Amino acid sequence: MPSYTWLTAHPEETRAAAGELATLLPRRAVVQLTGNLGAGKTTLVAALVEALGVAPANAVTSPTFALIHEYGEPTRVYHVDLYRLDAEREVFTLGLEEIFEANALVLIEWGEKFPRLLPRDRIVITIEHGAGDQRRITATGDLLLTRTSPQ
Ligand SMILES: Nc1ncnc2c1ncn2[C@@H]1O[C@H](COP(=O)(O)OP(=O)(O)O)[C@@H](O)[C@H]1O
Ligand SMILES: [Mg+2]
Repeated sequence: MPSYTWLTAHPEETRAAAGELATLLPRRAVVQLTGNLGAGKTTLVAALVEALGVAPANAVTSPTFALIHEYGEPTRVYHVDLYRLDAEREVFTLGLEEIFEANALVLIEWGEKFPRLLPRDRIVITIEHGAGDQRRITATGDLLLTRTSPQ
């Protein structure tokens, strides 16, 4: 299965990684973002949204309370945060199935809490929190595109 890894030592480097990641993500996919609180999931989403030309990074805030934020053209992006939900029945009320059917990139923080509710062919991005500002970002999934730009 295709897999890409970035080691970053600063939020700015994570934003640069997001720029590369944006070229590897299909415009229609479900992406599970896994990492501890403060790992950098929302930071990565904000940079991705900007890299995709959808919205400036500073327009992206954590959907911890709204649960779902939607961003528009040219690529539709849904940013979902399941942190506050505990039961599958709560997730059902969000209508995720409909979003999964949409022609959109769906980025889900804390999706690993409800693996049965996510499509099998999802892309998984894991952010591991190292010492200080160090992070290891790994993207894995059959649907990842092939890297075309020089490394
Ligand atoms: N290398 C790094 N990559 C991403 N974020 C980092 C990094 N180093 C420090 N940070 C900081 O860690 C925090 C990550 O917060 P956030 O993106 O909201 O995390 P999460 O959504 O995973 O809970 C931000 O304050 C960010 O500035
Ligand atoms: Mg977050």
